[in-house]
This record gives sequence, C-alpha cells and structure tokens, in this order.
Amino acid sequence: MSRWIKVDEDINQYINDHLAPEHPVLQELHKKTSVMEGAGMQISHEQAQFMSVLLKSIRANNTLEIGVFTGYSTLITALALPADGRIIACDISEEWTNIAKPFWAAAGVSDKIELRLAPATQTLSELIKCGGSGQFDFAFIDADKTGYEDYYELTLELLRPGGLIALDNCLWGGSVIDLDDQSEDTKALRKLNDKISSDRRVQAYLAPVGDGIYLASKL
Ligand SMILES: C[S@@+](CC[C@H](N)C(=O)[O-])C[C@H]1O[C@@H](n2cnc3c(N)ncnc32)[C@H](O)[C@@H]1O
Repeated sequence: MSRWIKVDEDINQYINDHLAPEHPVLQELHKKTSVMEGAGMQISHEQAQFMSVLLKSIRANNTLEIGVFTGYSTLITALALPADGRIIACDISEEWTNIAKPFWAAAGVSDKIELRLAPATQTLSELIKCGGSGQFDFAFIDADKTGYEDYYELTLELLRPGGLIALDNCLWGGSVIDLDDQSEDTKALRKLNDKISSDRRVQAYLAPVGDGIYLASKL
C-alpha cells in the first residue's frame, strides 16, 4: 500500500520549521493584517513559500492575481519574479489595497504591480479583448468563491501553454466533503473541483497545502 500521511499540527509545525525565513516586509504585513477583521483571508507563510517555488520553477514573468486584500500574495509573487516581471492585480476594495501599497513600496516591487480596481471578470475580459490571450505564465485565484469558475475560464484563456493556475481554498476547511453544507460558496467550489478534475485542457492536482490549492497546468 502506498504511504499517506495526515498533516496534523505537529507535522504542520515540522513543515513550517523547514520553510525559508519570511521576508521582513512580509512579516510586517502579516503583523499589520493580523489585527484586522478578515485577517484569515490572508494566505499563510507556508502557502506563500509554496507559490514562490512554483513561480520560480516555471520562470514566471507575466502574472495575474485575482483577490489582493492587503497585498500579501501579491508581494510574495512580486518578490519571486525577475526584475522585469509584472503582475496584474485585481480587486474591488480600495480600502484594503491601499493598505498594501506602502508594503509593496518598502519591498521595492511597486513597479512590478499594476492594480486594477474593478470586478475581476471585467478586468480579465478587457485583457482578452486587448490581445492578452496566451500571454500570461501564472494566475493566482483567491477572491469570491462563486466567481471562481469565471476566473478559471478567463485566466485559462489568458495563460500560455505550460502556464499555471493556482486556486486557493479548494478544500474550504473540509466543507467540500460535508454534504450537509449546501452554502453557495461550498457548492461553487465543489462544482469547480469536479470540473477541473476532468478538464482535458489542463493537467491538475489538488494539493493539500493550506486550505487546499488546486494547481492546473494548461496543456
Ligand atoms: C481572500 S481575499 C484575498 C487574499 C489575498 N490573496 C492575500 O493573500 O492576502 C479576497 C479578496 O477578493 C476581493 N474580491 C471579492 N470579490 C471580487 C471581485 N468580484 N473581483 C475582484 N476582487 C474581488 C476582495 O475584495 C478581497 O480583497
């Protein structure tokens, strides 16, 4: 029988003990966000390190982010990109993204980040209209769960073959297997997880990192 390990608190701690140290500006941003309402929306240091490895492995340069909040995942992405790399970062909240900006500046990566304040479907559709299809290497989807399927379809169009989509929260605290949970968010994630698993346009794996990151590599 193949080996399988349950990631309990101790194993999770062991994983965390083996992460590269958190960049000082990321540490400050965690501290600043931790006292805010909605702090739980921010990705963890562990997830960020995982993303950083992926971004560097595929030599990502041109990336998309759907869901910025206070800018942590945007910042880890910017730090993983080469000097001429760029991120089109989509969000609808001026209040939250204004918190991000001084941290991006402190880390010296503001030039790489183009923030678009509009519903992400609008921004992504505009990019397609302006010839962006096939131009992006990586997309991180971490916004409203009922919008995920649209973001998946639009980013898939915008990605080059071999490009990677990472969708956060796809295990949704385990709710995806709790059939008593019929909330709109859970149903949307379940439906999309099923769709991705049989989607012949991608090679995909639902990684049990953080709250579950579905990785879909465009074929
Ligand atoms: C889970 S948080 C993102 C967390 C972020 N990735 C991080 O690591 O800190 C979700 C974000 O999605 C944004 N959002 C919600 N609906 C959106 C939409 N229709 N278009 C773009 N962004 C949206 C929210 O304003 C919020 O900032």
